[in-house]
Amino acid sequence: MIQLQNVTLRRGAKVLLDGASITLHPGEKVGLIGRNGAGKSTLFALLNGTLHEDGGDFSLPAGWRLAQVAQHMPETDESATDFVLAGDERLARLNAQLAAAEQSGDENPDDAASGMAIAHAHSDLQDAGAHDARPRAEALILGLGFKPDQLDRPVDSFSGGWRMRLQLARALMAPSDLLLLDEPTNHLDLDALVWLESWLTRYPGTLIVISHDRDFLDAVTRVTLHIEGGRLARYGGNYSAFEELRAQQLMLQQAAYSRQQDKIAHLQKFIDRFKAKASKAKQAQSRVKALERMERVAPVLAEADFTFTFKEPANLPNPMLAIGQARFGYRADDGAETPILAGVNRTVLAGQRIGILGANGQGKSTFVKTVARTLPLLDGQLTEGKGLTIGYFAQQELDVLRPQDTPLEHLVRLARETGQHGTEAAREQQLRNFLGTFNFPGEMVMQPVGQFSGGEKARLVLAMIVWQRPNLLLLDEPTNHLDLATREALAVALNEFEGTLMLVSHDRALLRSVCDEFWLVARGGVQPFDGDLEDYQRYLLDESRRVRESPAPPFATDSIAVTIEPARASGQKPSQPALNPTEQRRLEAQRRQQLAEHMRPHRRALDQAEKRMQALGGERAELEQRLSAPLAPADIAEAGRRLKAVQDELARLEDDWLQHSSAIEALENNAGLE
Ligand SMILES: Nc1ncnc2c1ncn2[C@@H]1O[C@H](COP(=O)(O)OP(=O)(O)OP(=O)(O)O)[C@@H](O)[C@H]1O
Ligand SMILES: [Mg+2]
Repeated sequence: MIQLQNVTLRRGAKVLLDGASITLHPGEKVGLIGRNGAGKSTLFALLNGTLHEDGGDFSLPAGWRLAQVAQHMPETDESATDFVLAGDERLARLNAQLAAAEQSGDENPDDAASGMAIAHAHSDLQDAGAHDARPRAEALILGLGFKPDQLDRPVDSFSGGWRMRLQLARALMAPSDLLLLDEPTNHLDLDALVWLESWLTRYPGTLIVISHDRDFLDAVTRVTLHIEGGRLARYGGNYSAFEELRAQQLMLQQAAYSRQQDKIAHLQKFIDRFKAKASKAKQAQSRVKALERMERVAPVLAEADFTFTFKEPANLPNPMLAIGQARFGYRADDGAETPILAGVNRTVLAGQRIGILGANGQGKSTFVKTVARTLPLLDGQLTEGKGLTIGYFAQQELDVLRPQDTPLEHLVRLARETGQHGTEAAREQQLRNFLGTFNFPGEMVMQPVGQFSGGEKARLVLAMIVWQRPNLLLLDEPTNHLDLATREALAVALNEFEGTLMLVSHDRALLRSVCDEFWLVARGGVQPFDGDLEDYQRYLLDESRRVRESPAPPFATDSIAVTIEPARASGQKPSQPALNPTEQRRLEAQRRQQLAEHMRPHRRALDQAEKRMQALGGERAELEQRLSAPLAPADIAEAGRRLKAVQDELARLEDDWLQHSSAIEALENNAGLE
């Protein structure tokens, strides 16, 4: 039994747990949830003994074996299987004992003691499950998505995401009574995720898992621990059950309730707007689903206090980018090339919203990194439109942050690099205000980012991207670490963004709600994907069947890329990069620019209406609350009158809102932009 009695836990000046008391029983499958920075990882630090309680009592059964995923990137040339096998420390120790006993047996063949030691070691190994340890390790590795021919490859030949998967396999390999998993799904694709779900439901020990993925939590957990504002609460049930209970609790609070109603009304408008489109486009159909889902989570998200917007880009070059006959990949110091993608011809236009799909390891990040210019192109052209400003969110987003520096220092550096002027003091105040809008209050602005939680770091990187005022957003897995409310804020901001978006994400809800088209990175090339996410899931299934049935590795080599490339691409003469466009393209560009100009006033009006609606919504909630308390008759009349006025204005604004959004809708349809 794990017990916390009146436990207080601090980090720096923050009180993360204040008088927390809960009990967890052996074998329970527990989801640990809460906003970014609420203290989930810190609670793990208490459970695994790296941190001690500042007050109260914490106890864990003596002798419990604990397993958890190491957070560092493994650097070793051990084979993948050996690395995972070593997760079972007892087995490793017994193997070492056996080797030592055998060695001393070899040196003194007549020594009875070493004979005994060898016999003991063998029987201990038997107890520890040595006979099938290797196949068990291999099953874990394969389950997490590796190919059979990768089992013996050295660990450091894998990319970061794959090495973290090996860390996960290693933790699962360790026999344990308590398994702690901190956001295990961040590095997984759909197949591996489903496999992990089923492995965890069969795990016999006590499991505590931190995750922001509701589907995953629902599949695996039966108990939910929620941290909020220093309080730790236990709910019997999975995430959805928690959400329902929590929603009921919120309903009881008048203020929270009306906030939530506003949000639902707002979402409903979006749904209505897109429903009209649903008859026409598949994509729109998917959005309706996404929005219906958003509506269901609304009760809990109603607590969300965070929204942000991307600044309007200074200009929109069209095309943004032209990629011609390009080869993407890596070049070693000795000049040897490892091509990942070849024969890539694509143009990125102003205002496109492209979701980039492809299984892990197919080259999505390589593609995005090259477009962001952090990796050189191996061959071909990558031509940028004039005035292109890229906002790049790298998958390893922590890399761009300096752990010793504060958020303010990060932004000061950025402002200096982008040549923004003004007096130091004025600039600092401006930057502080800006950080404030990203939920970094006064004291956090001066705290080294190394101490931040994963989600807080990711939020800071987002803020830095917004600051740069990009017209092309390249986002590679931006939602890892972000809590649900912040993901929601990101989706809203991306929907309002006027520039071009290229997004890699395994967050299906986000892809659905912000992308209009998909590109597929697979089999050594980049092609438009004709379909929606459901089609993509079907494609993945077919693809994994194909890979299983064919001995050829799914990785890109030049020859594979050429043979599988559709005839259209290989049959064409090497096309000029499209910056010197054909007449048709020029017209297309012109049309889009005109369209953007027509849309702008509507977007602006929408924006204004929304801001005003938000302000009025707040006032309405306040008035309703005032009216629910005992008041003098004169005050009641006064508050009632004001409430009526507020409601009338809100109704008017809602009409405006709908008119402008249908105008935008009509413009989009006319332009054939589905
Ligand atoms: N060494 C430290 N000194 C000061 N503050 C810290 C330190 N470590 C963490 N914090 C703060 O404590 C809070 C809780 O951090 P923790 O990592 O537990 O959050 P979390 O719930 O796991 O968040 P996330 O969902 O983003 O992973 C954060 O606000 C973080 O900035
Ligand atoms: Mg954390």
